[in-house]
Amino acid sequence: MSDAKNTRSQPLATTSLFLPQEAATEQLAKALSDILSHYFSNSYEKTPGTDAGAKIYLKGDLGAGKTTFVRHFLRAMGVKGRIKSPTYTLLETYKVSSLYLYHFDFYRFTDTEEWHEAGFRENLGEDAIVFIEWADKAGPGLPMPDLELNLIYESAGRTAQFNAFSEKGKTWITKLIHRKMPTGEP
Ligand SMILES: Nc1ncnc2c1ncn2[C@@H]1O[C@H](COP(=O)(O)OP(=O)(O)O)[C@@H](O)[C@H]1O
Ligand SMILES: [Mg+2]
Repeated sequence: MSDAKNTRSQPLATTSLFLPQEAATEQLAKALSDILSHYFSNSYEKTPGTDAGAKIYLKGDLGAGKTTFVRHFLRAMGVKGRIKSPTYTLLETYKVSSLYLYHFDFYRFTDTEEWHEAGFRENLGEDAIVFIEWADKAGPGLPMPDLELNLIYESAGRTAQFNAFSEKGKTWITKLIHRKMPTGEP
């Protein structure tokens, strides 16, 4: 049986960096938003026959900064107004010009079939940006992400570790590595 589900296979690329304070998290989110904006505005970068969208799963303990990262990403993409954590609603949806952005939080899932019933799978196949916090709680039925972001407490800051599980995720990691890494300095 193939086991290409969720995040159990080997990543195609990986990188990690230290984020001493939230400003560094903000810079990293902004860098990724630049890379993805470019990807979504250049259809030639998309390979026919593969999923068009971006699936990014965020891992880390409570308070590690998953929601903070997504919030800064959405702001950098041009989302205006309040950005709520989807902890209670499971899904918050945003739209910037013609691009949909979905922010899921499966923390409160107890029944792994629940998300199937809720019809969330459709969002995952769209030409959209999809963030999922606590993807593990949705069980093994979720597709592999393009990128996984692990946020780990380290002294007063966080270590961010990216893993790529698709060719396009690998491209985005390569682009991140070639950018100036965030330091949190203005
Ligand atoms: N790089 C960082 N260094 C220190 N604190 C951070 C950093 N990034 C985010 N934080 C803080 O950590 C907390 C993260 O909360 P939140 O984003 O809700 O976590 P999660 O969604 O992972 O449960 C916020 O108080 C935020 O200000
Ligand atoms: Mg959260």
